[in-house]
Amino acid sequence: MKLKISVIGLGYLGATTAVAFAKLGHEVIGIDSDLTKLESLAAGRVPFYEPGLEDALLEVIASGNLRFKTQHDEETSEALIHLLCVGTPQSKTGLGADTTYLFNALDALAPFLNEDALVAGKSTVPVGTAAELAKHLASKVDFPPHLAWNPEFLREGTALQDSLLPDRVVIGVKEAWAEKLLRLLYEPITNQGVPLLVVDIPTAELVKVAANSFLATKISFINAMAEIAEVAGADAVKLSEAIGMDERIGNKFLKSGIGFGGGCLPKDIRGFVARAEELGVGQAVGFLKEVEAINLRRRSRVIELAQEELGDLTGRRVTILGAAFKPETDDIRDSPAMAVAEQFWMAGAKVVIHDPKALENVRRVYPQLETANDLDSAVQGAEIVVLTTEWKQYREADPISLGRHVTNRLIIDGRNALDVSAWQAANWQVVALGRNLDRIPALV
Ligand code: UDX
Repeated sequence: MKLKISVIGLGYLGATTAVAFAKLGHEVIGIDSDLTKLESLAAGRVPFYEPGLEDALLEVIASGNLRFKTQHDEETSEALIHLLCVGTPQSKTGLGADTTYLFNALDALAPFLNEDALVAGKSTVPVGTAAELAKHLASKVDFPPHLAWNPEFLREGTALQDSLLPDRVVIGVKEAWAEKLLRLLYEPITNQGVPLLVVDIPTAELVKVAANSFLATKISFINAMAEIAEVAGADAVKLSEAIGMDERIGNKFLKSGIGFGGGCLPKDIRGFVARAEELGVGQAVGFLKEVEAINLRRRSRVIELAQEELGDLTGRRVTILGAAFKPETDDIRDSPAMAVAEQFWMAGAKVVIHDPKALENVRRVYPQLETANDLDSAVQGAEIVVLTTEWKQYREADPISLGRHVTNRLIIDGRNALDVSAWQAANWQVVALGRNLDRIPALV
């Protein structure tokens, strides 16, 4: 059944959600007050890099299933469901999430909210936010408004696919009617066998931060093992492989390296700690502070390794391969790669950054850092190359050819992504986090 819905906020989450529901056959109106963003989307251009999203956007604009507006009007008030997708960034004054945009979104929606419409939040929020939002909305309208929570688990780089075919759909509801409506919204997905879980609203809010905390913990766990492996003469990559074969543990999110970043994991674990402390149960997630500390230590470890090889870094030419927080995105928010680049820069090194997609963002946010558009010129004269994001282009790069451009064949594999023996065979010295590669004999 085709439903008319509005998607409020067209950032990463909102733009992908709007396109996905339009592609699944619903009639979607995307709303965002940012005119530049809106005009770009309406013209079929996604304002960030996300594989497949632009083609899908063009398709749903052509089918008439997705349209855009800068504000609510008589037409958007006909929507049966309003999905809140605005950002909840880290607060400027603390570690918690700033939920202002959600309250602002409700203020804009309230005058056009129909009595029979459901407001469903998708943004990541501190547990308890939905209840505050419901209270706020009730003070703005003269009927009891309906609010549900419906967390989103999409990953950058595979966002569209994750939205069209997620592992699960979670809906937090208070009323059977809201459940029925959300079940209709997700019917094209649940018809393909995707499970839908119905929970209470606080659980729905918690599921998202709990899932992200678990993922962050898994990454920091293996990175903590990497710290131990480094001093014990062990190999964190082999260790990960061995423990990951235990089905109870699993091998996903168990890759050691310079750790996690992006717009979600770091912000979400900090926000979770802040909320738990507010609720008087800070101890329960105190370990997340250690998860973050491990994560940050791995970044600094790269600089230490470079110093162990080169001594003082002042004036040394360092090439950073990858700026995005992970491959297949141009997002550099809280990127471990950029943190490493900045630390080299602060140590006095001459830093050059390469990335297949994120350089425009790098130039905007870090105008002081040098960038290079192509790989060969990026490594030209490098005394050390550091792999910080495991783009395919780097994993498949030819070490023999790159070796001709550098001054010193020394690479730090910050993602444990390289075919070490191929690089060693091309006479590169490979240093990697959590590994003792000098012990691996070169093949030549
Ligand atoms: C994450 C969650 O995965 C997603 O479900 C949620 O909706 C939003 O937050 P995303 O931010 O796109 O998604 O990134 P993710 O794929 O989780 O990767 C996060 C970071 O962890 C990246 O910097 C990545 O390089 C790093 N990572 C991941 C590791 O260091 N090791 C791993 O084994 C896996």
